[in-house]
Amino acid sequence: MSEHVVVTTANGVMEIRLNRPEKKNALTRAMYNAMADAFVAADAEAAVRVVLLTGTGDAFTSGNDIADFRARSEGNGETSASRFLPTIAGLAKPLIAAVNGMAIGIGTTMLMHCDLIVAAQSATLRMPFTPLGLVPEAGSSLLVPATIGHRRASALLLLGDGIDAATAADWGLINQAVPDDQLMDTARALAARLAALPPESVRQTKMLMKTGKPDLQGRMAQEIEMFRLRVLSPEAKEAFAAFAEKRKPDFSRFS
Ligand code: COA
Repeated sequence: MSEHVVVTTANGVMEIRLNRPEKKNALTRAMYNAMADAFVAADAEAAVRVVLLTGTGDAFTSGNDIADFRARSEGNGETSASRFLPTIAGLAKPLIAAVNGMAIGIGTTMLMHCDLIVAAQSATLRMPFTPLGLVPEAGSSLLVPATIGHRRASALLLLGDGIDAATAADWGLINQAVPDDQLMDTARALAARLAALPPESVRQTKMLMKTGKPDLQGRMAQEIEMFRLRVLSPEAKEAFAAFAEKRKPDFSRFS
């Protein structure tokens, strides 16, 4: 367990709340594992019909903890998310995201494995992998272009551009953007609707919709191995050091 992930279940809905607001809900290994544990429990427990994921404070999550990236760059680069990624991708029960604020890096790529996504109007989505000397993960190199097209995906994944919630809804990356103060009511109403439907029918429909995606598992494995090597790269080390030192990174010496 991690005190930075709060899990509660009521009326068929398991709510998972990222709760490290002082670090913009940046994800540590313990937080990934706590989320993975919650997903496994959700699939195992008949009392849970729907899972709802959100964050505390003004961030959904600022992505992987960069201090953790930096520590990994001194080791073998192995990802802290190695259990989390296949678990969220394989969750049988429907998963709703209530994106309460900025969703950065894996904060956005994990959304690709959610079934319904509601975001607060003030939320932003950003996948700054190249600015950090990294590559995309969570199958996003496949799923993002498939969802929004290659050109828009290039702006997000090659340039690392961010988009606001309204644009994300317009592009079909999320279902809807709602006024900030209506976020949780909207997401919980969707969860209640799903929880009231016949559960096996819902699970089978989700399974059918996910089956046949062109080699998602293979792409995720390829991304994870490339990502592991990128974390060790001098380019990424420069980016992590710059973040820690609160300065702009300088990539001019790399070829
Ligand atoms: N990893 C580790 N610490 C993080 C973090 C992350 N991903 N995101 C934020 N934090 C920390 C900051 O270092 C800061 O810590 P401090 O108070 O000890 O200095 C604290 O959270 C608050 O963040 P701060 O940068 O002061 O808030 P902000 O509103 O000015 O900016 C962000 C918020 C999220 C835009 C900015 O922190 C950021 O760019 N974070 C990195 C995001 C990222 O690149 N994630 C990895 C993607 S692969």
